[in-house]
Amino acid sequence: MKPSFRLAAAVLLLAGAVHAAEPEQLYQTHCASCHGTGRLGAIGPALLPENMGRLRGGAVAKVIAEGRVATQMPAFGQTLAREEIEALTAHIAKPLPVMPVWGAAEITASRVIEREAPPLAKPVFTADPMNLFVVVEIGDHHATILDGDRLEPLTRFPTRFALHGGPKFSPDGRFVYFMSRDGWVEKYDIWSLQKIGEIRAGINARNIALSADGRTIAVANYLPNSLVLLNAADLSLIRTLDAVDATGKTSRVSAVYQARPRNSFVVALKDVPEIWEIPTKGGDFPLRRIKTDEPLDDFFFDPSYAHVFGSAREGSASKVYDLNRGEQIAALTLPGLPHLGSGITFKHEGRPVMATPHLKSGLVSIIATDSWTTVKTVETPGPGFFMRSHENTPFAWTDSMMSKARDTMSILDKRSLQIVRSITPSPGKTAAHVEFDKDGRKVLVSIWEDPGELIVYDAATFAEIKRLPMRKPSGKYNVYNKITFSEGTSH
Ligand code: HEC
Repeated sequence: MKPSFRLAAAVLLLAGAVHAAEPEQLYQTHCASCHGTGRLGAIGPALLPENMGRLRGGAVAKVIAEGRVATQMPAFGQTLAREEIEALTAHIAKPLPVMPVWGAAEITASRVIEREAPPLAKPVFTADPMNLFVVVEIGDHHATILDGDRLEPLTRFPTRFALHGGPKFSPDGRFVYFMSRDGWVEKYDIWSLQKIGEIRAGINARNIALSADGRTIAVANYLPNSLVLLNAADLSLIRTLDAVDATGKTSRVSAVYQARPRNSFVVALKDVPEIWEIPTKGGDFPLRRIKTDEPLDDFFFDPSYAHVFGSAREGSASKVYDLNRGEQIAALTLPGLPHLGSGITFKHEGRPVMATPHLKSGLVSIIATDSWTTVKTVETPGPGFFMRSHENTPFAWTDSMMSKARDTMSILDKRSLQIVRSITPSPGKTAAHVEFDKDGRKVLVSIWEDPGELIVYDAATFAEIKRLPMRKPSGKYNVYNKITFSEGTSH
């Protein structure tokens, strides 16, 4: 063979090989350095369908072609052909062929402690540490600590990509724990305004809970199918529990909750008909399984935590289980998928009730929790996601963010059970997620856009007090309301 001929053959061969391996090869060449060779994430986020759920095909291709301004995500529109971008889009939309391993070794190896929390008798700032808000800004992955009295930010710092599930506070309100979509748990010291450290407890995580004594963090994972227990003090791993039911079937873990009066974690499992309870005292963490007749999700607890109310598949009844007896005690068919996890409680005419928005209908259901019967169904302009109130106000606020009326908040009078006012803070822009300050005098509403805003209202007169610019403030969490388990907020 003449040398030039041999070269041409080699080139042909090589081209064939590149073609066959194309999307994976393209991925390894252009993306793996930032997103990890196995797509599990590195300096860039994990590129797995489970993690990118909300980002659809066209939007993914756009990110690849145009990059993301002011981030390390480059634009590939000039370097890659349109077909290559499409191939990559399809490639990262596919689940991994085998469930990735993320066990004790991987979790422990990911842990980084930057500093010990300094011994402090009080915070380094003068603001009331009980009336602070932690604002999660998912527009550019930052959090702001906001002084709830002066309505001024104390600091703003970067977080992991795509925080999820609501931060949790230590019982004294000093530390806050964040969790990200990609399974990172970060610990931040509010008193000294510094990050303490982080650990990656999973690859795709749903939420975290902190035990009543503040010593243990539980992490609910979709990927892998596990519940992970961490020491809150230093974020070290205590144990991973494979999420399998009594018959050995594996399941995603939907969520974990702190049942404070019971000193336990209660766990919702997505794919198997069990509720788990794990006592947190004593350090043994024994697992108790409560058998259900179908998988239940999205839990609401009555204030005693003796009862858990969970929704089942769409169209089927929501069920109430007595956690002491481990038995179902009621079933309610509610219209349009209630969002029980956002439920709030209050007293109506002397009776304990809960109120929940619905994800698929413009209604708020008000349910007596002594009989588990619907007291009233109140119409709103459209399906909503969050609901909030406070002990010191007669009003509860809810959104319609899942609908055309996404810019409108509805205010329910807890006495008359009527919507008494609706507010459109920024016409055309999504208004969602309300939080009250410590005393229930001010209401903070998110404009869920990037850039967005926090809008502060007087809780009694509904007059606007202030607007603060924020980057898609997905949620804000008042230290006092969270650590006291205010009846007006979900936990
Ligand atoms: C230099 C590092 C880097 C490289 C190389 C890189 N990315 Fe990224 N990518 C990032 C970062 C950082 C983000 C997060 C940007 C943000 O904050 O929104 C990101 C975000 C993304 C997102 C959005 C994920 C989401 O959930 O919002 C997609 C999709 C993506 N990258 C695909 C790719 C693909 C495909 C390639 C290869 C063609 C690639 N990236 C190469 C750093 C990189």
